[in-house]
Amino acid sequence: MARSWTPDSWQAFPAMQQPDWPDTAALDAALKHIASYPPLVFAGEARSLQNSLAKVAAGNAFLLQAGDCAESFEEFSANNIREKLRVILQMAVVLTYSMGVPVVKVGRMAGQFAKPRSSATEIIGDLELPSFRGHIVNDQLATTAARIPNPERLVQAYHQSASTLNLLRAFTKGGFADLNRVNTWTQEFVASSPEGQRYVELSNEIERALRFMRACGVDTENYSALHEVDVYTSHEALILGYEEALTRQDSLTGQWYDCSAHMLWIGERTRQLDGAHIEFLRGVGNPLGCKIGPTTTPEFVLELCEVLNPAAIPGRLTLISRMGADKVEDSLRPLLRAVKDAGHPVVWACDPMHGNTTTAPNGRKTRHFEDIVNEIAGFVRAHNAEGTWPGGIHVELTGDDVTECTGGADDLTNDDLDDRYQTICDPRLNGRQGLDLAFRVAELIRTQN
Ligand code: PEP
Ligand code: CO
Repeated sequence: MARSWTPDSWQAFPAMQQPDWPDTAALDAALKHIASYPPLVFAGEARSLQNSLAKVAAGNAFLLQAGDCAESFEEFSANNIREKLRVILQMAVVLTYSMGVPVVKVGRMAGQFAKPRSSATEIIGDLELPSFRGHIVNDQLATTAARIPNPERLVQAYHQSASTLNLLRAFTKGGFADLNRVNTWTQEFVASSPEGQRYVELSNEIERALRFMRACGVDTENYSALHEVDVYTSHEALILGYEEALTRQDSLTGQWYDCSAHMLWIGERTRQLDGAHIEFLRGVGNPLGCKIGPTTTPEFVLELCEVLNPAAIPGRLTLISRMGADKVEDSLRPLLRAVKDAGHPVVWACDPMHGNTTTAPNGRKTRHFEDIVNEIAGFVRAHNAEGTWPGGIHVELTGDDVTECTGGADDLTNDDLDDRYQTICDPRLNGRQGLDLAFRVAELIRTQN
């Protein structure tokens, strides 16, 4: 018989990566406030995303999950949100047009604040400080005071998520995402580049196709799919008190949903089968993701599928592999085979970022564009060899002209990293590198299938 589940049943299990909140009364008060606030998303929206992901699981659509490594309380503005959305929409257009399948768009946005850390403390200069855990917990400033977990940040994260989601909804439904305007989505710094030029050519082709449809009598004006898009939100469900406070029962179905985002994922460091994160997420109706690194075994993946998706609902579970470019093909193939043989309808996505992080001589964490492309190429090869669908990519990017990842069309080098290194956590692709990646991914999948 299935074990019973309640929104707080995770509390009886070991929870990794939870902050050491010094003031538990203040923590309880913050969580109580959040529990009284409106949900950020609705159950019906999470179900729509799951239906779209079911198409990905069946090989008829592609998942693009993208956004910041960690959203920032300081870098929070309409511009910042719009530019990130713009790159995601541009990448989606390139992938849709080039691959001929719908692209399911999911942002690492409107709630992606919490960061797991390999170590509880870090050395900065001569200081050993508690690690920075994301703005939902503490601040990255290198002082002891800044690193003390502050529960008021949970409330601020809720409000920032609400404002971000509000703007995302406005942009995606209010005309900005109109397919008739694909040619206006190019940022200035991208337009001048080779991939910017390629994008202009592609948007001209789309314009011609739309003119053709109108000439044939299709009423493109009143066809909402051409004017609006669905962009869903997601984040790593790390701070379980926060997630529990936003977990609500759907009045329509009686099912529980974590209404902090449409999709939640479990990170590489918190995916213990007997741990609190899996216990919490197995009980909510949202589509779920789980990161799987190079040590993952077929036995683990099969148990994960059983625990998180016992009813084998297509689209419920996305397995996000993050193996490293040199390991992905060999590490992934046995997993693909095991899941296929067991008949689990999962979405397979490739996170080509987290297994390819290096440290430049100046101490900056970076990732090389070609390693990122190579991991996706290995991911696609593994799927082709096993007869499964390389369902999507999961990437860290920003719309801004940052210099955090090396390589790409501008061939950024380690020496360029100091120019505009703005991330508060992992290095992100800039807008140009994101667009470049979309063209490369579309080619990889087209030529190998
Ligand atoms: C992340 O997605 O930012 C992250 C920490 O990934 P992982 O859990 O795969 O290391
Ligand atoms: Co990251």
